[in-house]
This record gives sequence, C-alpha cells and structure tokens, in this order.
Amino acid sequence: MKIAVFGCGYTGLTTAVGLAEMGNLVLGIDTDAAKLAALKRGRCPFFEPGLDKLIKRNLARKRLSFSSDAERSILDSDVIICAVATPRGRRNRADLRAVLKVAGDFGRFMAGGTDAYKKNQKLFINKSTVPVGTSEKIRQVIEKSFLSATKRKEFIPNFSVISNPEFLREGTALDDFMNPDRVVFGLEQASSHSSSKTKIEIMLSKIFRYDDSVPIIYTSLRNAEIIKYASNAFLATRISFANELADYCEKVGADITEVAYAMGFDPRIGHNYLQSGAGFGGSCLPKDLHALIAHGKKAGLNLRLLKAVKHINDRRPDRILEVLRNELLKIRGKKIAVWGLSFKPNTDDLRDAPSIPIIRALLKNGAKVHVFDPAAMNKFRELFQTKVNFGTSATSILKDADCLLILTDWREFGTPDFAKIKKALRNPLIVDGRNCLSPAEVQKHGFKYLGIGRRRA
Ligand SMILES: NC(=O)c1ccc[n+]([C@@H]2O[C@H](COP(=O)([O-])OP(=O)(O)OC[C@H]3O[C@@H](n4cnc5c(N)ncnc54)[C@H](O)[C@@H]3O)[C@@H](O)[C@H]2O)c1
Repeated sequence: MKIAVFGCGYTGLTTAVGLAEMGNLVLGIDTDAAKLAALKRGRCPFFEPGLDKLIKRNLARKRLSFSSDAERSILDSDVIICAVATPRGRRNRADLRAVLKVAGDFGRFMAGGTDAYKKNQKLFINKSTVPVGTSEKIRQVIEKSFLSATKRKEFIPNFSVISNPEFLREGTALDDFMNPDRVVFGLEQASSHSSSKTKIEIMLSKIFRYDDSVPIIYTSLRNAEIIKYASNAFLATRISFANELADYCEKVGADITEVAYAMGFDPRIGHNYLQSGAGFGGSCLPKDLHALIAHGKKAGLNLRLLKAVKHINDRRPDRILEVLRNELLKIRGKKIAVWGLSFKPNTDDLRDAPSIPIIRALLKNGAKVHVFDPAAMNKFRELFQTKVNFGTSATSILKDADCLLILTDWREFGTPDFAKIKKALRNPLIVDGRNCLSPAEVQKHGFKYLGIGRRRA
C-alpha cells in the first residue's frame, strides 16, 4: 500500500518516518517549500532526537520521499494520513481549515486521472487533533468535493474515514510512535469486537505494523476524537494540581517535590505529570485544553474543572515573576540570565512556552535579559530579535547577572559547574522554575536557591 502523509511537522514527519521504518512506501506532503527542501536533503527541519538519521536511511532505501504535489499523491496512494496543524482558532475552538482543506483535496483529486478509485478502497486517516464530530464533517467535505469535481449527482467512491489520534510527545516522538502505549482507531462502522478482523482492521494492521503487545483500541469516530482531548486535559489537570499544591506547600513550609515523589508510588497515581514550576506549554496541552472548554461551551456545558486547570496554569508566569520580585525587590535594570526557552527539554518548540510570557514581563519591567537554550535559540530569535541577548553557551550569559533563572529542565542544566556559575554571577541567586536542582546541593555551593513550592532556607 502506498501512503501519503499530509503535513511534515512534528506529528506528520514522525508518522511518515515511522511508517517507512516499518516497511511501508511513504510520501510526505507539505506546502512549506523550505521544509521540503531540507527534507529532500535528508535534514529534519526541526529539533527532534533520532529523526535525522531515519529520514536519511529511508530516503536511501527509497521508502520515503517528499513532495508538494497533493493531486499526484492522492491519485497514487491507497492511504492518506492527515497530520496538519489544528491551532487555536476563533473563540479558542480548534481551527480546522487545514484539515478540511486536505479533505477537500482528497475528494477533488480522487475523482481525476484514472478510474482506480472505483475499484480500490481508499483510507482517509486523520491524525490531527480535532473536536468531536470532525470526522463526520471530513466525510461530508470529501463527498461534496468529489461530487462538485465530477459534476455528478451521486456515486460516492469507496473510501473510509478513520480517526487515529496521535499521542507522541515531542522530544521522544519517534520512540513514542514506534512503541506506543496504545493505538486508537475510530471507525465509521462499529468494530465487530470479535476475533475476526474487518477488512479495514486488516488494512490498518498492514500499515501500522505493531507487535501484538501493543493495545489496539477500535472504537467509534466520536470516542476516538474525545480520547485525545480527554488524555491531554487529564495530563494538564495533573500539572495544575501539582502547581496549586506547590503554592500551598510553600506557604506552610513543605516541599512539593517530596510530596509529589511520595504520592507517585501509589499505583493509582504514578509519578508522571506531577512536576510543579512554570506550568505546562507546548503545541498541545494548552490549545487542546482551551479547545475542549470551548467546544464544551458550544455543547451547552460549563467545564468548570478544566477552566480551573487553565486558570492555574495561566497564573504560573506571574508566580515566577513574584518570586523574582520578592527577592530582587525591583526588576528594573537587573540582569537576568535565563536557561531554557523551549516548553520542555529535547525540543525546539516554543509554542505556548512559559518562557515567552515570563521574558516579555521581565522586559516590560525593565530587566536586561540574556538567554541560552540548547535547541530553541533560532526560533526564539525570530520572536524577540534584539530585545534579548543571545548567549553561545549556558555559562556565556552569566557574567554579572543578578539572577540565574531556569525555565526548561534540559538535562545539561541539572548538573552545572556551580563554581563557574558562582564566579560569574554578581549575585549568587538561582531561581529554579522547573525544580530541577537539589536545593541542598545548590546551597552547599553558596547560592541562595528559590524553587517553586519548596521550603525556603
Ligand atoms: N506536536 C505534537 O507533539 C503533537 C502530538 C500529538 C498530536 N498533535 C497534533 O497533530 C497535529 C499536527 O501538529 P504538529 O505539531 O505536527 O504541527 P506542525 O505545525 O508542526 O506541522 C504541520 C505541518 O502541516 C503543513 N501543512 C499545512 N497545510 C498543509 C496542507 N494543506 N497540505 C500539506 N501540508 C500542510 C505545515 O506546513 C506544517 O509543516 C495537530 O492537530 C496537533 O494537535 C501534535
């Protein structure tokens, strides 16, 4: 089966590379010429560990190629995977224009060229995160485009829409795709739930060649769409829970990291997503949380818990500023050295990164901001240009700084050369916005350490 993946961003490119690695013939389609040029040369256009190597390998094996030709790819492929962006749109709802454009192209171009579409079943697999009901809308758009392109009144070709939400995490995207903890397929026709697979289930298992240990969940289109939003909203809830408790711990002389660590051993709770600090960001959690609240409202519901989760997260940048202000007394004229800009380690993604509002507020209050991030410097430069100073290494920005502020817990920031930092800073103060350092260790080296929700020395 030939597969065309629409959208070569974090999700689409990982999917294309992963499917090629599994032995499929995959064509990556994108509208961004610069991205395609990089990909054709075997270069990953963004920072994601491991992708570069596998792009090169699969280009060489001729299992993977890239193009902007949507029409050709739709004619030639049995399977279309839609992985275009669904950013925050009007009234915080998901902006579906890119997804519906791919659906429209699929209907329109399927009609052209040969008559193959009459015989072969095609699959339209949607991986983009979309609100409930979108897969049904996708079918309507495909049918409408097909009928208007062929000027027919009826005859709808043989195709199925499948909802296949993606759960990969940036930074470990490839591994998450190749070894998922579960795979969800929402189908138009209910699954038989028997041991004998339907034709579509067989097609899917030929494309996504996971071993038998991976749980594959066949469900309805609507369930699949909600599973994605529910998962992200739940993860966001855990982080806001930890952050609310962090503020409480700080007030009463306790340490949130020790509290969360002990909580996590309860198998009903677990350790993940209980980190307190600057709050969650990234391309998914904030926008999906906003979208779920907005689409809940559209359905006539007030999703109070999720609104509180959002509210707590929205306040985290203020919390970091409050810590700085309390300690430095005034921000104006102070030099702040910031380690970490990306919303989390091992990615250069700055979408909804907490570093952005925090640094904006620091600048607004008259601070001189010097930044370093191992991967996100170029993207940050596009946003802030000359408003901040960009270092060449973590230590290069420390000279005469009044504070070292950590906003992303990159591994290399967790084991710094304290003696070097101490020598460079004007004021030996570390504000750890990710609680990634040990207070005792930092204090041992003569610094004042301020974490978030941790006991004050
Ligand atoms: N980034 C993540 O960690 C992640 C994880 C799970 C799910 N998702 C979901 O996956 C979807 C894609 O997210 P992303 O982060 O990969 O987005 P992205 O912005 O990194 O990539 C989207 C790509 O689609 C391309 N594109 C836009 N219109 C196109 C068209 N008509 N034809 C072909 N290409 C087109 C863009 O040029 C871009 O390269 C979103 O719905 C997102 O919520 C993202």
